Amino acid sequence: MSAPRRLLVTSALPYVNGHIHIGHLVEYLQTDIWVRFQRLVGNQCAYICADDTHGTATMIRARQESRSEADIIREMSKAHQDDFAAFDIRFDHYGSTDSASNRTLVGEFWSALRASGRVAEKEVTQLYDPKAGTFLADRFVRGTCPKCGAADQPGDNCDKCSATYAPTDLKDAVSTLSGAKPELRSAKHYFVRLELFRAFLETWVHSGTLQPEIAKWLQNTFLTDELRDWDVSRPAPYFGFEIPDAPGNYFYVWLDAPIGYIAATKDWCDAQRDDVARWWKDPACEVHHFIGKDIAYFHTLFWPAMLSATAYSLPKQVHIHGFLTVDGEKMSKSKGTFVRARTYLDHLDPAFLRYFYASKLTQKAEDLDLNLEEFAAKVNSDLVGKVVNLASRTARFIPAIAAAYPDDGGLFAAGAAESAAIAQAYDDGDFNQAMRRVMALADRANEYVEHVAPWALKKAAATDPAAATRLENACTVALNLFRQLAVYLAPVLPRLAEQAGTLLGAPITAWSDAQRPLTGHAIGNFARMLDRVDPAKVAAMVAASAQAEPAAPAKVPAATTSTAVPITVPAHEVELTVPLEEVEAETDSQALREEPLAETIDFAAFSQVDLRVAEVLTAEDVPKAKKIIKLTLGLGGSERRVVFAGIKSAYKPEQLVGRLIVFVANLEPRKMSFGISEGMALAAGLGEQDIFLLSPDSGAKPGMRIH
Ligand code: 2FM
Ligand code: ZN
Repeated sequence: MSAPRRLLVTSALPYVNGHIHIGHLVEYLQTDIWVRFQRLVGNQCAYICADDTHGTATMIRARQESRSEADIIREMSKAHQDDFAAFDIRFDHYGSTDSASNRTLVGEFWSALRASGRVAEKEVTQLYDPKAGTFLADRFVRGTCPKCGAADQPGDNCDKCSATYAPTDLKDAVSTLSGAKPELRSAKHYFVRLELFRAFLETWVHSGTLQPEIAKWLQNTFLTDELRDWDVSRPAPYFGFEIPDAPGNYFYVWLDAPIGYIAATKDWCDAQRDDVARWWKDPACEVHHFIGKDIAYFHTLFWPAMLSATAYSLPKQVHIHGFLTVDGEKMSKSKGTFVRARTYLDHLDPAFLRYFYASKLTQKAEDLDLNLEEFAAKVNSDLVGKVVNLASRTARFIPAIAAAYPDDGGLFAAGAAESAAIAQAYDDGDFNQAMRRVMALADRANEYVEHVAPWALKKAAATDPAAATRLENACTVALNLFRQLAVYLAPVLPRLAEQAGTLLGAPITAWSDAQRPLTGHAIGNFARMLDRVDPAKVAAMVAASAQAEPAAPAKVPAATTSTAVPITVPAHEVELTVPLEEVEAETDSQALREEPLAETIDFAAFSQVDLRVAEVLTAEDVPKAKKIIKLTLGLGGSERRVVFAGIKSAYKPEQLVGRLIVFVANLEPRKMSFGISEGMALAAGLGEQDIFLLSPDSGAKPGMRIH
């Protein structure tokens, strides 16, 4: 046997700003399966990850929620780690890029880049939000497309005509941070001169570290032209590490994020008196990164260039996967296919997704489709129908496995002979191939069981010793074939491997456990191993994930004198609101006694209600009506609604003008004798005197959606 390999393995560091969803899980499950396989074959493997914490989005969210960045990082790190653990994704260490070790290492990289003359300084003119007091990345600017004139388009390309442009080209640009009109300002930025790494990159890209299609893409897309300088600094305010020799400037998040791989390894090493150099500076240790194709550019040009300026190891392999689609389309919040890890776990067994993704993953950076019907059918047919059934149909019939392994027509030996091919497929990251080979073995095992029909032997075995021996032999073979499959599936289905170990009194600890049949082992009680996928639960998961699309586009809030900074950014960048299910409702027990709680509704039902922050623009008494005040509400921009609210007993019209309230925006208009009411203003209360209009905290802006 060859000497064990030493492997340092990473998955991309998830942004602290969002929760883990089934798209992320493709990568973490892929990596976890690979790591588990490596350990099972005896390689030494450290699996390191961390939260990616820095950047404007974190800073803005902290301002928005009036809390510290550290507080957000703590909360999100726990949420991420809980989600990963629930999917049996086991890191050796889960760190943070906002760590002392990362600050030190970033300084080390910076000095190396500076010392080798690879840093340039240039003035950069950018849009600046005078109200929020910050420069604006492209995604924080919206305006009218300079090409086709479509309104409210993003800062870098037009959704309508696909034109690409600079945010400074937009007409009527506004900052999505505050609604203010951006100004042009210049500031000094620091750049890594990537072109100076050309000779190194041209060799490295073709060194076998990358999938061939990725190497080709880099060659044809980037290496044909001069490599552009990479802007690695941001002027204050910015949440990140201040550049030691350029006070008032901060390292751009993408500079410190990959260095976080090393920093997290160092923190892990320090905790157990290991030396980080053993993992990151020793040519005998292989560094493997798992990432998605969207961030290939950072990991295959910038990161190797930075590493090459230091003594840290270059990756031995960058494993790049494609995107997840669900039912053939991009994950969609409105369709309920943007499923958070937590929501999945509320409805389905993590083993199902581990297996399904494994069955789809290859070495190629191709997109992977989670077709929900196929998901249920495949898991039920393969895992339940072919694998678990082998044990459930035989384990109950005999108290122990036979003392000698019977003649099985060469089945076990044929399975053992597949070991090398399956191992190769795992090592190559071709899990699809590995699963296909395992299922082909499962098919043969099931044919055997069908043929010997232990259930038919069971009755005769009570009186006929020959039948009893045949039964014992049949079950011994079936259970050993089951165990062999459990070994081969152990990287994908660690819980099933454990259950198989418990059932047969022999824990699965090594890949080589598939080479020898067990004999003479007592069989434990058969405990249910895996339920079938219930399509109703899949549907419930989708319903629970469905969120209505915002009725009107989340309009840029009108500028006000408030200093709080509201934001509208793409959901994958930042999730601003704590979902309702995570909020502990504070209740007044007296009020509860008077009006009992309504029946539970599901999340989908709740999310159909489009709740908005609205501003009372005008309020007029309706003399004809005893209880009614007519309100004109502003929802941001020119959006207006008129409602008739039964609040006269508690409020005077003049008290209401200018205040913000909570408004149901998608309620069917109601015809009343004095006009049409186009929604509802929300108030708490028990009677006519006790009416309390709801208001958002300061900082909220008219038109904001309430989740
Ligand atoms: O794309 C992302 O989610 C990034 N947070 C990945 C960073 S990976 C590494 F470079 F830190
Ligand atoms: Zn356009």
